[in-house]
Amino acid sequence: MDKKKNGFASGLGFVLAAAGSAVGLGNLWGFPYKTQEYGGAAFVLVYIACVLLIGAVTMVCEIFIGRRAQANPVTAFKNINPKFGWFGVLAILIPGFIACYYSVLGGYTVRFAANSFNGNAGTMDEFAANGWLVTLFTAIFIAGAIFVVMAGVKGGIEKASKVLMPALFILLLGTAIFSLCLGEGVAEGLEFYLKPDFKKLGGTEILAAMGQAFYSLSLGMGAMIVYGSYTGKKISLVKSTGMICLFDTMVALLAGFAVFPALYHYKAVEGAAFDPSEMKGSTLMFKTLPMVFESLGIVGKIVSFLFFAMVVIAALTSVISLLEVVCQFVIQKFRFSRKKAVALLALICFAISIPVGISAGGADVKLFGMDLLTFFDTVTNTVLMPVCAFFSCIAVGWMMGPKKAVGEMERDGQKLGFFRPIFMFMVKYVTPLLILAIEILGVYELVFPEGKFSGNGLGITLSAYGLLAVGALVYFLFFKKSDTGTNADEK
Ligand code: PHE
Repeated sequence: MDKKKNGFASGLGFVLAAAGSAVGLGNLWGFPYKTQEYGGAAFVLVYIACVLLIGAVTMVCEIFIGRRAQANPVTAFKNINPKFGWFGVLAILIPGFIACYYSVLGGYTVRFAANSFNGNAGTMDEFAANGWLVTLFTAIFIAGAIFVVMAGVKGGIEKASKVLMPALFILLLGTAIFSLCLGEGVAEGLEFYLKPDFKKLGGTEILAAMGQAFYSLSLGMGAMIVYGSYTGKKISLVKSTGMICLFDTMVALLAGFAVFPALYHYKAVEGAAFDPSEMKGSTLMFKTLPMVFESLGIVGKIVSFLFFAMVVIAALTSVISLLEVVCQFVIQKFRFSRKKAVALLALICFAISIPVGISAGGADVKLFGMDLLTFFDTVTNTVLMPVCAFFSCIAVGWMMGPKKAVGEMERDGQKLGFFRPIFMFMVKYVTPLLILAIEILGVYELVFPEGKFSGNGLGITLSAYGLLAVGALVYFLFFKKSDTGTNADEK
């Protein structure tokens, strides 16, 4: 592994980089607000079950697919079956689209970290509506990602992850402890977070937990295939997957310990009324938490800075993985140098992020009734991500077949142990079926929100499937017969 120019130097480096991809806004922001919105502790339990039952299995598939090919997702799927190399195109398109809106949100977090000492309560509306400022901070955020990805897998991504991930963990632990020590209201917050009320659990909640698990683990978006391709045969598939899932889940759970006590403390002290439905989207992170910090005086300002610095780190290591997915393909298929590929792709991402940022700030730029940020997010996460994760499972569970897949793993010296029979059964039947359910129910809710037909929902769904069709077409026209490269092609 270490002889290769462009692979991870160590197993730990791989795990930290993959954890860096997984730990992102989804953990620190998405998880707490969804927990708030979908019923508290019961949601948390379902989420953990989803990580264990479907997340881990899919992650093993993705790392395995990338690693056996030592190549980008298109070549990796082609190696399994050339007719289905287009699965790989999807695995590259999705992160490309995510990067364009994720960078805007990354820019928000940089702004909030930088502005912590001035006080962030009330910053959100003013900031978001200022297209120039949003664009500036998006650019700063993207510049950070460029800096790391340009330095390569070993010299950039691995090195950065080894410093940033422990830093993130310490900051998060500190924030959670601080929050737990706030006194009044803390117990109430913990009760909401930890005492399950299963009456609150319905289909929507379970669906949300499954979707959240996939998003949070960076599955169905090429990232794990690509990082997997940079590992050698020696490191353990099961152990690495276990560690990545554990780290990701721990960070999400700790984020809950940082957020809920503080939220309920604020509620108790200020007598503020929370309407959980108001906690949707950007409100929790960019409006409510800043108010909570503000109420704590100078200490609150320091905590705010440390908190948002941590969020910047989380978002940065995620966007790095998104950029790397697209970058790897451009380097290998078109024989670009890494510097050229990163510069070009970052520029495209930045150009697209400008209208996305302006639209998110309330300007009248909308697609199917949504601002562009929500549109990109819905197209990728609700419609396309499950499709891509489904393909990863099908490629291993049906195209190769569990026996052949497990046989190959074991020939490479993998010890699967008790995971072996579970994996073989899950990957063939349970996991793909559950992912299919996420897709069908997700699309159904989009097209028939609250049971009523929505033309916009249909438009969004068709755009997403249209993109899928274009990806497949491009594959059959340009990539199927030509050499799509491997990691060895990076100069
Ligand atoms: N897992 C990241 C998060 O939780 C998001 C992400 C998805 C990053 C896919 C990279 C690839 O925020």
